[in-house]
Formats: sequence, structure tokens, C-alpha cells
Amino acid sequence: MIATEPHRVASHLGVDAGSYDVAIRRFIPGYDAMIATVLSILDEHLGADPLVVDLGAGTGALAGAILDAIPRARVVLVDIDPTMLAVAGARVACHGRRAELRTASFFDAGALPSCDAVVASLSLHHVPERDRKRELYTRIHGALQPGGVLLSADATVHEAGPERARIFREWAAGMAAAGIGADEATALFAQWAGEDRYYPLAVELELLAAAGFAHPDCFWKQGASTVFGGFR
Ligand SMILES: C[S@@+](CC[C@H](N)C(=O)[O-])C[C@H]1O[C@@H](n2cnc3c(N)ncnc32)[C@H](O)[C@@H]1O
Repeated sequence: MIATEPHRVASHLGVDAGSYDVAIRRFIPGYDAMIATVLSILDEHLGADPLVVDLGAGTGALAGAILDAIPRARVVLVDIDPTMLAVAGARVACHGRRAELRTASFFDAGALPSCDAVVASLSLHHVPERDRKRELYTRIHGALQPGGVLLSADATVHEAGPERARIFREWAAGMAAAGIGADEATALFAQWAGEDRYYPLAVELELLAAAGFAHPDCFWKQGASTVFGGFR
């Protein structure tokens, strides 16, 4: 998808925003572990009064978890889909001015204010082209204060070979544990492939290095589900 095109989760994932939080945990094995990993790294590294930008915040699961767990943090929630952001707005309303909603594309001028951390959960796979992804990582690096951190929780998958097959088998097994049968899992992978682009972890780390992150790293991985990023 071109980043400036409107994106609608309802049509892409086949769920409405209200059902999204339940559905994503069935679709993505290790979803809660990825969120917990991001929280733990943020809490360890953020200083006083930090600003965090959540790119592709969706219904605000990650932003809400950050606001709950790290009371000193403020969070800007960026998403192109106003339906998702409306759900996020209700979720984070209790945090008052610590949360700010922005309806914008990742590439819009207002999407990346100067900040201490950029987080993204299952959203940057919506940037399919390598050059555009490198450009986005470069913009993120530029928005981060020195010492700031980018943490992306997303799927990473090999391009081919037995490693790719193994990762999808493991992913389907995780979905089976959530009641999704093998045929349904195969159909869902085919449906998501129309829009999502998962790169190998090694490619993501290369793109981050090319964008200026000196020591990009993988912080957690289980099958496809991965938390990776780097410090400025
Ligand atoms: C699979 S959802 C993930 C939502 C949330 N981060 C989570 O973990 O549940 C992907 C989100 O990215 C948003 N998105 C996709 N492309 C975007 C773009 N170019 N700019 C901003 N948001 C985008 C979608 O609207 C959607 O809410």
C-alpha cells in the first residue's frame, strides 16, 4: 500500500475496530509478550517526562499499556484510520493530556515530532517497499533525541526456503491454539499477503543501520513475532 492511501483495518483484517483487540491476540501468537518487551525496554531507558510516538497506534493497545505502566510518559498516537483512533481515544481518555491523537500517515509532516521513543506494533509492515521503509526509519532516527529508541513489534519472515515454511508452520500452530484451523490460517495468510509485507529480521536490521541506527538489534523473537529496533 502507498503510505498516503487510506487504510481501513475493517476491510484488511475482516474485523471491526471494536472486535480488533480480541482478534489480534488470536491472529498474532506472542502479541502480549511483544507489548511487554516494549514496555520493559521503555521503562528501563526513558528519562523524566519522555515523549513517545506510537506509529499505527490502532485501537491504542500499546499506547494505553505505556500510559498505564509508565506514568511519567506522554504518548502521541498516530494512525491513518480514524475509526481505529476513535477506539484508541476512548481507551486513553482517562490519561487526559498525557495522550494526544493524530490522524495522519507515517510520512505526514506532523506524524513524527521530536521525541524520546518511537514505538510501532504490527503497523510498519504496511510500508511494503524497502526504499520507503528505509526512508521512514531515517525520519524516525531524525525525530529521536540522542539516546532515544525505536522499538517495532512486528512479523519478520524469511523470503524463502525451509526457514520461511517453518515460521509459517509455527505461526499457524499458534493460531490453532487460539481456535483457528489450518485452512482458515492459510486463507488468512493469503488475505494479509495482499497488503502486508514482512521482511526477514536481517533485512530489517540492515535498513535500520542504513537509516543511521548504529547498533540495531533484535530484543525478542518467537516464530514470526519479533521486537527489534535501535538507539540513536
Ligand atoms: C494491524 S494494526 C496494529 C494496531 C496496533 N498498533 C496494535 O498493535 O494493535 C495496523 C495499524 O496501522 C495503521 N496504518 C496502516 N498504514 C498506515 C499509514 N501509512 N500511516 C498511519 N497508520 C497506518 C492502520 O490503520 C492500523 O490501525
